[in-house]
Amino acid sequence: MTPQLDANGRLRHLLTLEGLSRDHLVALLDRAQAFVDGEAGRSLAGTAVCTLFFEPSTRTRLSFQRAAQRLGADVLNFDASTSSTTKGETALDTLKNIEAMGVRGFVVRHSEDGGVAALAAQAQPETALVNAGDGRSAHPTQGLLDMLTLRQAKGADFSGLKVLVVGDIRHSRVARSDLQALRTLGVGQLRACGPQSLLPDDTTLAGCEVVQDFDEALEGVDAVMMLRLQRERMAQGLVSSLDDYHRGYGLTAARLRRAAPDAVVMHPGPMNRGVEIDGDVADGPQSLVLRQVANGVAARMAVLEALLAPAAGPQYG
Ligand code: CP
Repeated sequence: MTPQLDANGRLRHLLTLEGLSRDHLVALLDRAQAFVDGEAGRSLAGTAVCTLFFEPSTRTRLSFQRAAQRLGADVLNFDASTSSTTKGETALDTLKNIEAMGVRGFVVRHSEDGGVAALAAQAQPETALVNAGDGRSAHPTQGLLDMLTLRQAKGADFSGLKVLVVGDIRHSRVARSDLQALRTLGVGQLRACGPQSLLPDDTTLAGCEVVQDFDEALEGVDAVMMLRLQRERMAQGLVSSLDDYHRGYGLTAARLRRAAPDAVVMHPGPMNRGVEIDGDVADGPQSLVLRQVANGVAARMAVLEALLAPAAGPQYG
């Protein structure tokens, strides 16, 4: 793994939340909250940032573009489908060529686990990369925006919270980053729920109580983090049918009543309505889905600033 911290403990790249200290997370979250509260920042004026996505995205790409614009950066958008990667150019050559144009910040989504770290290892010393999702491994800014959203709803002290993560955890980089952040921030209880075929066989669920029955898992939880069923990453046969999946693991309004009365519902998007979550829950009063999206801009501003204008960004412990 490419080191993402320099010798002084500052972020050089943001590749994963794994191993980042509580101080780092809290500093980034505090800075993001300042941006939510209206702090203006132009700390990236004159800096060029490129969104380099080798997989599709709506929220992550656009909110990074919005974040960079709000910080005054020049923003370049690389679209793989109309780029010279269609002629066989590699991701590394693509990065190197855009670096040669004077771009210092890269927001990269890659289909392979470790794909962004591999590019970071070959980048110029003054270049910073943000992992915008690599394979099943990590989606660190989704983790940050989710923590920001949970903090706004439930307060900064997570020690009394019961949080349930539900669904296709095996294929989910969001779940990995969320669980890493929740553990670092000292969440009281972590529960995980999903069909056995969609639970990971690595250390992702360390510290989680695994409850296979969704109704049982929901009892008394303060937050329900739903995950998208990632059909594009899935081998055949992991789920018998979408109807079966909904019967077992779809969040309905009736099911949600088992959670604490003030429980919040989160989903990273894009949602499969009627599969992992019903429309009336996604759009209902307990849903924070659009709050998560709004917070994505502020969380990504905090990250870009920390990487590219550290004097203006958060100071660590
Ligand atoms: N949550 C998320 O990563 O959404 P996109 O794939 O649309 O960026």
